[in-house]
Amino acid sequence: MDKYCVFGNPIAHSKSPEIHAAYAAQTGQSLSYEKWLAPLDGFGAAVQAFIAAGGKGANVTVPFKLEAHKLATALTLRAQAAGAVNTLVFGADGSITGDNTDGAGLVTDIVQNAGVPLAGKRVLLLGAGGAARGVVLPILEHRPAALVIANRTVATAQALVEQFGALAGPGVLSACGFTDIAGAFDVIINATSASLSSDLPPVPASAFVPGALALDMMYGAKPTVFMEFAASHGAAVRDGLGMLVEQAAEAFEVWRGVRPQTAEVLAQLRAKL
Ligand code: ATR
Repeated sequence: MDKYCVFGNPIAHSKSPEIHAAYAAQTGQSLSYEKWLAPLDGFGAAVQAFIAAGGKGANVTVPFKLEAHKLATALTLRAQAAGAVNTLVFGADGSITGDNTDGAGLVTDIVQNAGVPLAGKRVLLLGAGGAARGVVLPILEHRPAALVIANRTVATAQALVEQFGALAGPGVLSACGFTDIAGAFDVIINATSASLSSDLPPVPASAFVPGALALDMMYGAKPTVFMEFAASHGAAVRDGLGMLVEQAAEAFEVWRGVRPQTAEVLAQLRAKL
């Protein structure tokens, strides 16, 4: 039976084993998927131990996504763009390929699950850290009319515009601070870590309009402060649970070559939150 795992620290909370077990049952794939608590100073050794034990691939979560990027012997284009790795593929030749399925997961959740196309739309991305960087390329691939990256530290958002500007059409990609956000947006994505501390990024209410979609990458039993704020200004809201399920589906397809259905798994996880 092929072996997979998720590396993280902490890892007890991870829903990935449950998600991948459901995908394996649904697609008739024979595999095991476990949680692996890697020591904070021992990620590389943990990966090597898992490979030695016959591991075929792994997911990587906080705080090891940057280390996984360094450890990989080859990187997919989307992992290079993200600067971080959440999916590893171990080759029989000893190769370690680093991929990143987070951005694809977000975009699939917006376009397919929420039914909101990004093509020709005005998109606002809040935050410019690791989570934001990982989704810029997949969003641009859908050809939005505008992608505005707003961040507390404007220079970090500006650096993303410099990194990705050549891949966007003229004038499509821009950076600003929260107070400079102008106009309304069709899709607003909160990629800041503010929700972790129940903070609201200071985004103006005028960014939200009825018909807009506001998505927070965080999830929990209750809506985040960002989702409550967006809903109070007429936007439809979504948390990050769909992104979690879709990034896992994308990783499953990378490893097994089959695409699982996600709707039922998402509903089951939602019921347990
Ligand atoms: P992650 O991997 O979750 O993206 P990160 O790389 O540390 O974590 O990035 C955190 C992001 O959340 C940054 O964009 C950060 O803004 P700064 O670049 O100005 O630090 C943003 N952030 C964190 N707390 C925030 C808050 N209370 N309000 C607004 N933005 C916040």
